[in-house]
Amino acid sequence: MKAVGIGIVLVALWSCVVSEIYEEADPCDTSKCFLPNCRCSDIRLNLTLNELEIPQLVSVTFDDAITALIYTEVIDLFKKIVNPDGCKAKVGFYVSHEYTDYSKVHSLWAQGHEIGLHSITHGTDSDYWKHATAELMMEEFGQQIDIIERFANINRKDIKGLKVPYFEISGDNSFVVADKLGLLYDASWSTQYLTDPGLWPYTMDYRSIQDCPIGTCPTASIPGFWINPLVDWTDDFGNKCVMMDACVVEDDSVEGIFQMMMKNFMVHYKGNRAPFGLYLHAAWLEKGDHNLEAFKLFLQFLNEKPDVYFSTPSQVIDFVKNPKTGIPFDNCRKTTRESCRSRLCPVKKESTGEDRWMTVCGQCPEVYPWLGNPTGKAQKKTTRRTRSTTKATTPLVKQNKLPVEDVSQTQEGTASNSRLLFPKFTRN
Ligand SMILES: *[C@@H]1O[C@H](CO)[C@@H](O)[C@H](O)[C@H]1NC(C)=O
Repeated sequence: MKAVGIGIVLVALWSCVVSEIYEEADPCDTSKCFLPNCRCSDIRLNLTLNELEIPQLVSVTFDDAITALIYTEVIDLFKKIVNPDGCKAKVGFYVSHEYTDYSKVHSLWAQGHEIGLHSITHGTDSDYWKHATAELMMEEFGQQIDIIERFANINRKDIKGLKVPYFEISGDNSFVVADKLGLLYDASWSTQYLTDPGLWPYTMDYRSIQDCPIGTCPTASIPGFWINPLVDWTDDFGNKCVMMDACVVEDDSVEGIFQMMMKNFMVHYKGNRAPFGLYLHAAWLEKGDHNLEAFKLFLQFLNEKPDVYFSTPSQVIDFVKNPKTGIPFDNCRKTTRESCRSRLCPVKKESTGEDRWMTVCGQCPEVYPWLGNPTGKAQKKTTRRTRSTTKATTPLVKQNKLPVEDVSQTQEGTASNSRLLFPKFTRN
């Protein structure tokens, strides 16, 4: 009797795990994949025969730390920009932890801008991410949600997307981790080939047609998880650039920089109206003598168009889920009353012994929050380092059940045929 009982429990457990496995993605089938929760990867929105009726969404996003200076600069740039529907323009931030001022993160969020993840450590180079295991990524992004929630006093449900530093795609890892964290979309995946016409956002239910200029393509099916593709720009020398600030201009004048932006915008605006990305580091605005001026002019130019809407990345996904001609959104992005008692905290970064000033909402941490210690609690020397609050379960790999540390090795070079088997869970 007892043995049978245990057997039933084991079978039940096993089928529960199996039903939550990420399968290998099949080619997309539009008869099975439809909006709002599934979309095949495609350069066509298929909303209307005349694509010029589709509103042109423009996403401006800034990567890396949000400092007080960057906050002021960005607020200043966008304060007068109102979309044709009367809603104030909102932008996106992919925040990395170090040097970030969390009271400013709170303020941006409260004003309706979008806060996304760009990791705690940012890694030292692209190799860090290329070889990062799913467990490490779970800590880099999962614990970053903990940091932002605690120190910027932000509702974690409002964190919807991530961008892996260096656009380093390493097979399924980052996508599976993002899905497990309950995120809506990825913004790490660039395309060099599907630029004219540009690739529209799509879900990972089925196999993607997107090229992987950096890193190894994912192969898993991740139902309902969106890719916000980074459609490369082409610079004045014919080179592709993911970040606008990496594009090289022939004539480094206000007019020259403006023309380069315009040329890239027109590919979308006169083409299939795929969302247009202005992806940059705020530091670029201060570089050279003309960047800021050219950028301002370009924003103004865009804002004069009756069918151009500045939208955050998750607004872009919302639109693609329920696309329409004319006015793209039913409501303005929600804003929140500020609730952040800002505090400047002198803390030590334990891994290097360096001092950091960290501005937070509410209570100061005891030490500088970092990977493995997102709450910034001082560690007693005798006790073991406490790990993530969003601790990763060790994933299994089909076939040979390799421990997770070996996953990156099997995924080097061409796309791996190993499947990660993670239990799924949703953020509450
Ligand atoms: C758009 O329509 C074309 C032609 O019918 C079809 O081949 C394609 O799969 C559709 N794309 C999507 C995303 O539904």
